[in-house]
Amino acid sequence: MIQASACGKIILFGEHAVVYGRPALAVPLSQLRARVTVTPRADKGIVIRALDLNRVIRVGTDSDALGTIAQLTLAHLGATADLELAVSSAIPPAGGLGSGAAVSTAIVRALGAFFERQLSAAEVSSLVYETEKVYHGTPSGIDNTVIAYEQPVRYVRGQEMAQFQIAEPFTLLIAHTGVPSPTRITVGDVRRGWEQEPAKYETIFDAVAAIVERAQAALARGENEQLGALMSENQHALEAMGVSSLEIERLVETGLRAGARGGKLSGGGRGGNVIFHVTGETSAAVRAALMQAGAVSVLETIVR
Ligand code: PMV
Repeated sequence: MIQASACGKIILFGEHAVVYGRPALAVPLSQLRARVTVTPRADKGIVIRALDLNRVIRVGTDSDALGTIAQLTLAHLGATADLELAVSSAIPPAGGLGSGAAVSTAIVRALGAFFERQLSAAEVSSLVYETEKVYHGTPSGIDNTVIAYEQPVRYVRGQEMAQFQIAEPFTLLIAHTGVPSPTRITVGDVRRGWEQEPAKYETIFDAVAAIVERAQAALARGENEQLGALMSENQHALEAMGVSSLEIERLVETGLRAGARGGKLSGGGRGGNVIFHVTGETSAAVRAALMQAGAVSVLETIVR
């Protein structure tokens, strides 16, 4: 039996604007992982068991993103076999944490390992990007990049992957609104807004790009006390793009009142997760306030 896994991800700054060529900063979320095991099967064909969804996908027969990534990977490897893939994931779907890209990445890695082929992070990333199109419509490529490389990534569409420096580790709380929000919907809505009011949206995207540059410089210098204000500025830009929601804003307000230095939605928006910059002193109080305000889960992670 062969096993492989892939991490989740958090976009710190720059979601949505990144689809329009602006930079974004994202980090891996290594404690939440998607896992895949591959075993040979006696019957013909490839079957994927999505354990959390209680679904069985027959590759080549059922139309499904998981089947698509398995087929693309086998074509890339020039391989074929009768297999069963068991897929499970600790990453909540439709929450802005990259669950789709993580499951796809784990499938690519597991098939590569089964056929004893060393796939580079760049190969994995470009295979996963193909299925991201099924999930997202017009994905920027940030999810597959940060997950395939499992490193902090400064992402600019169409450019080589680049890392960014985090001089001092910092703590984030990740609060789930409980509202699932498929990224392709918000990405489509931003596109319609941009088509109708291009000047307004370009101005917002430029403002986000400037926030990303300041955040990257602050992180490189270890000036983490600047992150909170930059997160709040980025949240306001996302509100102006129309991808925030009452649930998100209620959690942001609650977190700030309880002592977080800043907060913003992360990922597609309208639901999903809200991230907060906290310190050792404020973390417990912020977490308790967020749970009381209706967050369905609050996860703590140290970004380094
Ligand atoms: O919702 P997520 O975690 O898949 O993140 C999407 C990020 C967007 O910038 C909104 C879209 C994209 O493809 O970059």
